[in-house]
Amino acid sequence: MMLHIPNVLTPEQVRAMRAAIDAADWVDGRATVGAQGARVKHNRQLPENSPVALEQGRLIQQALSAHPLYFAAALPLRAVPPLFNRYAGGETYGLHVDGAMRPLPHGAALRTDLSCTLFLCEPEDYEGGELVVVDTYGAHEVKLPAGDLILYPSTSLHRVEPVTRGERVCSFFWVQSMVRDDARRAMLFELDQTIQKLRGRLGETEETVTLTGQYHNLLRMWSEV
Ligand code: NI
Repeated sequence: MMLHIPNVLTPEQVRAMRAAIDAADWVDGRATVGAQGARVKHNRQLPENSPVALEQGRLIQQALSAHPLYFAAALPLRAVPPLFNRYAGGETYGLHVDGAMRPLPHGAALRTDLSCTLFLCEPEDYEGGELVVVDTYGAHEVKLPAGDLILYPSTSLHRVEPVTRGERVCSFFWVQSMVRDDARRAMLFELDQTIQKLRGRLGETEETVTLTGQYHNLLRMWSEV
């Protein structure tokens, strides 16, 4: 399931974040990929241990923890500290797949179930730079307003088109979900959203309570924590 999650950050939060990260020192993006990615990756990133990246990443995680749509869709168990990248002057990231495991601080590791890109620039600020995600339904092009996030399965192949004008600045990170299987997670999300709509239309009824119980029983059956 691919999902657009709007308004993760407010325009003021994006402005403050851009001021902080734009002033930091950027390095070659190949620092964080394996051999396959390194051949096709041409961009810049903030170093993973950069104090600015860590601080701004915490603000993103804080915003996400208060976002009910993100929680319902990702059912996050843990996430890596958000990273930051930028593309300009024809920089691009060719077709690749994200590695299955990512190291976490303090020696632990995370299985990448979901990949997230949070846009920190407006679509009109740059030409090209679309995130293209390829799945069994074809290729999907994504270019979102500043402050919005796209969530997609880490199992997909994807690329970032060359940025031919202006600059594309984003944050990106991976999530290990409580529900590993994308199809099951998508079913839970649809059930959750439908229950909420019913509750909005009818108020709390015996039926919405029963359906909520079924949601939690499925989550209990399928989750690994
Ligand atoms: Ni990737």
